Amino acid sequence: MESSFGIRIDRGARQSLAAQIAEGIRVAIREGRLPPGARLPSWNDLAAQLGVARGTVRMAYEELADGQFVVPSGAAGTRVARGVPASRPEPEPVRSRSSFGSYLLGGTSALPFQVGVPAADLFPTALWSRLLGQAARDAAATPADYPDPRGEPGLRADIAGYLAVARGLACSPSQVFVTNGYAGALSAILRVLRVQGADAWLEEPGYPFARTALGWAGLRPVAVPVDAGGMDVAAGKALAPRAAIALVTPGQQAPMGMAMSLERRLALLEWAHAGERWIVEDDYLGELQLTRRAAPALASMDPHRVVHIGTFSKTIAPGIRVGYLVVPESLVAPLHEVVGTLEPAPSPVMQRAVAGFLQDGHYLRHLRRMKRAYASRRDAIGAALTAAGLPWEVGGLSLCVPLPEGTNDSALARAAHAAELAPVPLSPWFGGRAKRSGLLLGVTNVPEAKAPMLVERLAAVIRGATG
Ligand SMILES: Cc1ncc(COP(=O)(O)O)c(C=O)c1O
Repeated sequence: MESSFGIRIDRGARQSLAAQIAEGIRVAIREGRLPPGARLPSWNDLAAQLGVARGTVRMAYEELADGQFVVPSGAAGTRVARGVPASRPEPEPVRSRSSFGSYLLGGTSALPFQVGVPAADLFPTALWSRLLGQAARDAAATPADYPDPRGEPGLRADIAGYLAVARGLACSPSQVFVTNGYAGALSAILRVLRVQGADAWLEEPGYPFARTALGWAGLRPVAVPVDAGGMDVAAGKALAPRAAIALVTPGQQAPMGMAMSLERRLALLEWAHAGERWIVEDDYLGELQLTRRAAPALASMDPHRVVHIGTFSKTIAPGIRVGYLVVPESLVAPLHEVVGTLEPAPSPVMQRAVAGFLQDGHYLRHLRRMKRAYASRRDAIGAALTAAGLPWEVGGLSLCVPLPEGTNDSALARAAHAAELAPVPLSPWFGGRAKRSGLLLGVTNVPEAKAPMLVERLAAVIRGATG
């Protein structure tokens, strides 16, 4: 059914009829089809036009009056309020220039080779839903309280305990802040460090989203090359001697996978101390290290200049949006102010569920299981790549397939996507002009038995593009 001024209702929709009518009228007002002062049809008339009950129209009008779109005027009926601006056409959405894998921009379910997501088939669904249910019931008992913006005290203590054992990082719970993943942690700490306008060393290649984030925070990202020992500190000093901050992934470099050598760690710490500079450690994979024992956190070597960021995105699930910051004592008070104002910890329900997962050994058991499965998946993909005649290098939880220089890896990744595979192009991880071309293949969601078939499909896409 359609009304005189063009509103439609859909009886199969999830939205109530009254809500649909109100929305239709709001749109008609915004688009100018119902000008200011125009009289709306009576409840009876519109109800008859649309074939709904009179009470339904009345509810819609009441909703519109509450929102100040219309003014009920007694016997004179209901009129469109004056001063409701008709909208201009929506501007074209700003298109992201990034051709980086779409997984971080959301909206994709895990396809084979997707990087940055844990294995869907290893997730302990039953345990997690029990913990989440319990956490929700606990939180329901205190609905009116503002939670602590630094995070739930229990979880902060659990994280401090875990870091001491697994990452060699001794800290007190007061130094731990629970955040909305790595992204929330980075955003909060950049507000605290007050380094706007300064140069920032970033690994080259390195996590593209961190480069964007630092740019937004008013820093000038400087691409510092990495080699087998991690970020080349001497090159950083030559490129940007006055940088105020360095952002590094010392545990497992993103995306190449090597651990930062002891020599480089010491050089970086010395650089930071010499100029009262900051090091932000992105420990995004934590102890999820497949080839050897995880190197200790850089923050474990220095209590003053290193800000440590961890996330449960890779070890539990990215959808929970829980990560953490561990900061030197000197930053505890200013960070408390920032998170209290703008970046509070995520929902206590989620935090309590994570705390439950960290307790009773669930987390460590899950990590052990993932490590075993990922190592075996990685080996199966490597063997299949070799069999398909493709070169590859190990990197974190992914493998990198280098491509001939000049190959458009972003176009290739899109072509692979059309074949239901989700490798990530390597070139967007470079901020400077010299980019290497390649594809990063996440190993987490490719069971061994399927590796040969999926690699063969990918190899066909690569052969099709590179001849
Ligand atoms: C280098 C790096 N850091 C951090 C993250 C995780 O971020 P978050 O905790 O916001 O999900 C990712 C995810 O892919 C990453 O690749």
